[in-house]
Amino acid sequence: MFAVVGTFVHSSDKEPLITLQNHCLGVANGKILFLQKCDANLQTTLRQHNISAENVIYLQEWQFMVPGFVDTHIHASQYPNCGKGIGEGLLSWLQKYTFPVEAKFADLEFATDTYSRVISRVIKNGTTTACYFATIDTDATLRLCDIVDNAGQRALVGKVNMDQNSPEFYKEETTQSYQNTIRFVKEVANRKYKLVKPCITPRFAVTCGMDLMKQLGQLAQTHHLHVQTHICETKDECSLVQKLFPESTSYTDVYEQAGLLTRKTILAHGIYLSKEERKIIKSRQSGISHCPNSNLTIRSGLLDVKACFEDNIAVGLGTDISGGYSPSILDAMRTAISTSNTIALQQGTDYTPLDYKDVFRMATLGGAKVLDMDEVIGNFEVGKEFDALIIDPKAAGSVIDVFENDTVEDVIQKFVFLGDDRNILNVFVAGRDLSEKPFVEPLIIS
Ligand code: GUN
Ligand code: FE
Repeated sequence: MFAVVGTFVHSSDKEPLITLQNHCLGVANGKILFLQKCDANLQTTLRQHNISAENVIYLQEWQFMVPGFVDTHIHASQYPNCGKGIGEGLLSWLQKYTFPVEAKFADLEFATDTYSRVISRVIKNGTTTACYFATIDTDATLRLCDIVDNAGQRALVGKVNMDQNSPEFYKEETTQSYQNTIRFVKEVANRKYKLVKPCITPRFAVTCGMDLMKQLGQLAQTHHLHVQTHICETKDECSLVQKLFPESTSYTDVYEQAGLLTRKTILAHGIYLSKEERKIIKSRQSGISHCPNSNLTIRSGLLDVKACFEDNIAVGLGTDISGGYSPSILDAMRTAISTSNTIALQQGTDYTPLDYKDVFRMATLGGAKVLDMDEVIGNFEVGKEFDALIIDPKAAGSVIDVFENDTVEDVIQKFVFLGDDRNILNVFVAGRDLSEKPFVEPLIIS
């Protein structure tokens, strides 16, 4: 049981950015107990909840707390390729760089080392919840689950399925792909992780036949499992899907026919979805993972997030490493703004692009909605789990300069645009501090 005193910044459905100064937030059993102004009643509240003085953390001037970041789409297995192979289009990039690195995870030692490194990296960057693609290898994917569980991060993890249009060295037979997925789901259940859940992961319609996708759709629906896949990322891919599934009316219809679209489905990219397709996605309450760095780096295109919001579709942010070169959700926030500004330049003055408040919400509450976890995480609502970051704009090495006339909102905005892992002091998931230096910087008054 502990409490934090200082400035809290979070979002609600109504407000993209709420700033609460001089507030106290109490945590018990990993959950938010109370959040109230520091006034005369505070001592009573602390006593009521048996929180003693030595368990109160006081944030320093300019420090503030935000909800942990949610990465709705990240290929843990592509981490060795971050910053490599840039300039290639999606389909050739997959063949040249991606499938070869993913095939290496058949080696459990390589898998253990690589997965440990990527998990440590994204936690340092403030990702408290992630939705991971692993590889087709079941044992290596289970190893990823163990590593995530051991690190204390909250996650969905998927064993990838691919049974067509894939190289001989990285491909499964349909039956084997389905049976291995069942083994993966059962084994995850056996291991009784607290915060790690399985995610059904047909890579995309290009590499999955309809029979396999239907079996996976059935499996997900029967056991209420999450599903993740890619959709409408590039024009070439969309044409290929049309050719491969001539009986389907659209790319979205392929997944609809397979029974893969539910409230627990995360669709990465969605750049070239038609209005009709967005209607289907809305009706199924599936969410979209916007991966702006990847969309620019492999030159897939620009997702119009505002249009998705107008159609009432939930949109969160994804790093999509290594299509995107950065493992940081702060980078995704900035690239989402650049993408939106580019659309505004194309469309003219009537278009209002996303601002820093919008992307802050997408990185937290928005991501939680896409993962169907917004009843558990995403903001500082009482009763939700305490997934949070302590931000220090003046941390050692910080690129942020704070000036006397800066307001709290100015400094939050500076953090969105200039912040990095040096500004993220502590990373809490379900009330547990995962950072390597617990409470070194914030003041603890005993
Ligand atoms: N579509 C199918 N597989 C992938 C992948 O690994 N990365 C990206 N960005 N798109 C994909
Ligand atoms: Fe991806």
